[in-house]
Amino acid sequence: MAWTKILAANALAPGAREVVKVGNKNILVLNHENNLYAVENNCPHLKLPLKSGKIKDGAIVCSFHRSAFDLSTGEVKTWCPWPPGVGKLLSMVSEAKTLPVFPVRVEDGNILVDVPE
Ligand code: FES
Repeated sequence: MAWTKILAANALAPGAREVVKVGNKNILVLNHENNLYAVENNCPHLKLPLKSGKIKDGAIVCSFHRSAFDLSTGEVKTWCPWPPGVGKLLSMVSEAKTLPVFPVRVEDGNILVDVPE
């Protein structure tokens, strides 16, 4: 494991989120109900940013075509349901892909993530 210090723990209050660069990856770190999560910020569908996505039932929902991914596992909950009709076509063009998720922890007042190179 290669833990990287990314933020001070007090910089991420409940409900807050930040995008940090680790190596060549953009990592979205968020505090949801006092649990920390770290996921790739680029949606697996069209690589658009997930940062503004809503959290619903433990999943982050992409703002663009509303694919939803489990925050803990990255598992696809829904794939491109939006907009109605067109979303179905978009989902057929690209196969559903899991969202990369990364271990995250707090140590000595800092948030650390483990992002493989
Ligand atoms: S870019 Fe996220 S669902 Fe299309």
